[in-house]
Amino acid sequence: MGLFITFEGPEGGGKTTQLPLLAAWLREQGCDVLTTREPGGTRIGDAVRAVLLEPTHTEMRAQTEILLFSAARAQLVGEVIQPHLARSGVVLCDRFADSTLAYQGYGRGLALDVLRQITDFAIGPVRPDLTVCLDLPVLEGLRRKRGGAAAEWNRMEREELAFHEAVRRGYLALAAAEPQRWLVVDARQPVEVGQARIRERVAGLLAAGLPAGR
Ligand code: TYD
Repeated sequence: MGLFITFEGPEGGGKTTQLPLLAAWLREQGCDVLTTREPGGTRIGDAVRAVLLEPTHTEMRAQTEILLFSAARAQLVGEVIQPHLARSGVVLCDRFADSTLAYQGYGRGLALDVLRQITDFAIGPVRPDLTVCLDLPVLEGLRRKRGGAAAEWNRMEREELAFHEAVRRGYLALAAAEPQRWLVVDARQPVEVGQARIRERVAGLLAAGLPAGR
């Protein structure tokens, strides 16, 4: 029944580097690989993504944000992920439901049980077999993404830093609660070192024939 792998983590961890490297390796192993990302990955999801990430939408409520992320996810699962898994393919997804728990739950402080209910409604029975968390200290990640010295950041950016710290702590808590599903990779290591750890874990899943957690 296919293999579903998600990539998660705070900003600047290198998901967009590691995910294609894994996809290329899996294709060499003969897997039928589909890569996608959240929010987006479908026509409707891309339209929702534009609404979500538009910098001028400062009035967006946290509730609206969750429902929009979940709407994009519901579409992606039904239109792309589930059909590919049903064909015994491998799906690699840049962010998935754990992003909502980490960012909206741990980051914005919204109740995790409510978020889980909304997320479960959106994704139905589809669950990742493996979730790779590319972890690194928040300051390093934000610097990688934006450049610039932290000392020059303004008040908002400092607030944002606390938010991102909470997101990172959230990811580590989620990973600790479900170690059989998660692989936490230190994203400060060279890319090849991280990639080797990921491949090792994925090779184990492929060899077992049966994804962990199913
Ligand atoms: P994106 O540009 O894709 O960032 P990244 O390269 O870090 O994935 O923007 C996605 C942003 O949306 C990112 O900051 C994480 C956030 N996000 C949530 O807050 N909740 C979610 O459920 C998802 C999927 C993403």
